[in-house]
Amino acid sequence: MNGIVQQAFEQAFPGEDFSFVRVLPATDPRFGDFQCNDALKLAKTLKLPPRAIAEKVAARLPVKAEVAGPGFINITIEPAWLDGRLRELGADANLGIVQQGRGKKVVIDYSSPNAAKQMHIGHIRSTVIGGALDRIFRALGYDVVADNHLGDWGTQFGILIKGYRECLSADEREHLTVANLEKCYVLSAAKAKESEEWKDECRRELVKLQQGDRENLALWKRFIDISIGEFERMYDKLGVKFDTYRGESYYNPMMPGVVAKLQELGLAEESEGALIVNLEGEGLGVAIVRKSDGGYNYTTSDLACVESRVRDYNPERIIYVTDDRQQLHFRQFFSIARKLGFKDVQLVHVPFGLMSYQGKAISTREGNLIKLDDLLSEAVRRCAATLAERGNADERLAEQIGYGAVKYADLSHDPATAIDFNWDKALALDGNSGPYLQYAYARVCSLKDKAGEVAPGAFAVATPFEKQLALQLLKFPSAVARAAEAYKPSVLAEYLYQTCQLYSSFYQNSPVLKSEPELRDARLRLCGLFGEILRKGLELLGIETPSRI
Ligand code: ARG
Repeated sequence: MNGIVQQAFEQAFPGEDFSFVRVLPATDPRFGDFQCNDALKLAKTLKLPPRAIAEKVAARLPVKAEVAGPGFINITIEPAWLDGRLRELGADANLGIVQQGRGKKVVIDYSSPNAAKQMHIGHIRSTVIGGALDRIFRALGYDVVADNHLGDWGTQFGILIKGYRECLSADEREHLTVANLEKCYVLSAAKAKESEEWKDECRRELVKLQQGDRENLALWKRFIDISIGEFERMYDKLGVKFDTYRGESYYNPMMPGVVAKLQELGLAEESEGALIVNLEGEGLGVAIVRKSDGGYNYTTSDLACVESRVRDYNPERIIYVTDDRQQLHFRQFFSIARKLGFKDVQLVHVPFGLMSYQGKAISTREGNLIKLDDLLSEAVRRCAATLAERGNADERLAEQIGYGAVKYADLSHDPATAIDFNWDKALALDGNSGPYLQYAYARVCSLKDKAGEVAPGAFAVATPFEKQLALQLLKFPSAVARAAEAYKPSVLAEYLYQTCQLYSSFYQNSPVLKSEPELRDARLRLCGLFGEILRKGLELLGIETPSRI
């Protein structure tokens, strides 16, 4: 509604900013469904009496509008208008989602775990929020490159190679798993702490790898392949899929060039043997781009990465999804990237807050660094147990509900806030949870099964319950657009939850199957469109919608 009225203001008075204009529910239903009182505020700016402003706007509204009192605009949503909009939405393959991203390329860099380690619950947020943004941007027509910026290069590989050779049995080496890699890393790192000799050997293995030694390079490649294989097992469960896995190693050969360019442009300076970019003038401190031992770091690698992405994809935007402890890193490297001349590409950091587990901070020391795989299995186990109580032994269904619950528990919160993962909340059937939304969908499906085929036709939009639900359904496209604009899948989650609540008040107050045939079909059409929107919305969040629960 706000959008429609703002548009009418813009048409009546081109060139002014009307984004503040709001539509409120009518204080007295005799005067209509909504009202807008903002013409009064505009008298000064537009140098016109408020009534004259209101008249001009009302004349341009596509819905029934009357001017009253000093300049109130009373809006009545006529059933015919609502029905028309619903039919348009229902007939559109994209359910009204505006294809604003046509012809525009966006790189989304998310999940990006470090190789040779198992994913733990700290990896959920980047994977799930990034995955939802990926789907939402694609739905808006953007050409998305989902890029997993693996941590696949660095000193840990010297320790790993040494550990692989010395700390694993022949059998473990043959049937190498990420768990074994993690184990040999821990053992080798501990030995490196005790013995200088071991530490030196790790370093030598690293240098050999960096210099392209065939054997070490082959081992490294094997570690990466095994890691990706294990990550993909998690990604399959979480419904995310990457277009590329260009990890830090991919940018390694490009780093000297980036540093040379920084020097050429006079942006970098020597400081205590290291090469730095001084950003103190912008309040961003100092960023090291080459360490005193000659090695490059995270900043250098991200700079090379921007250069490479611009060259290969020429995106209009690159979106990075990481936890909020990396904010300074991204501010620094975005600033340096702009100084390097990357001004056309919009660089966006989507920082998310930390997640605690059942009220406790997640940390290795607390011993609650739960593996992602274990958390997902636990979710499935709990859902299977609940289903079993009702005599349902469908394992696949337990997975759909369990994974959906874990994902929704994250996506229903603003990414910027810290969140707590709590089993009761995640699995609650009566609250704002994944299972609640999935049940709502399954119930519409069973209603449709009972009702049978309904031919296309008019929607029920006469009663206040119907009107409210209908208006809410029409907001779906803007909820998707707003989620993308704010980089917050939670905007869409919130919309879907509210939609379910309005549906449920409608359904409780309006007999459907028992109504006389014409009304029954009209109401069924409203139910059907609700189901489609819920299914599409959950799909964009990466949550499956089983039709029977
Ligand atoms: N591997 C990093 C980490 O685990 C995240 C990488 C994010 N992407 C980037 N281009 N810096 O914290």
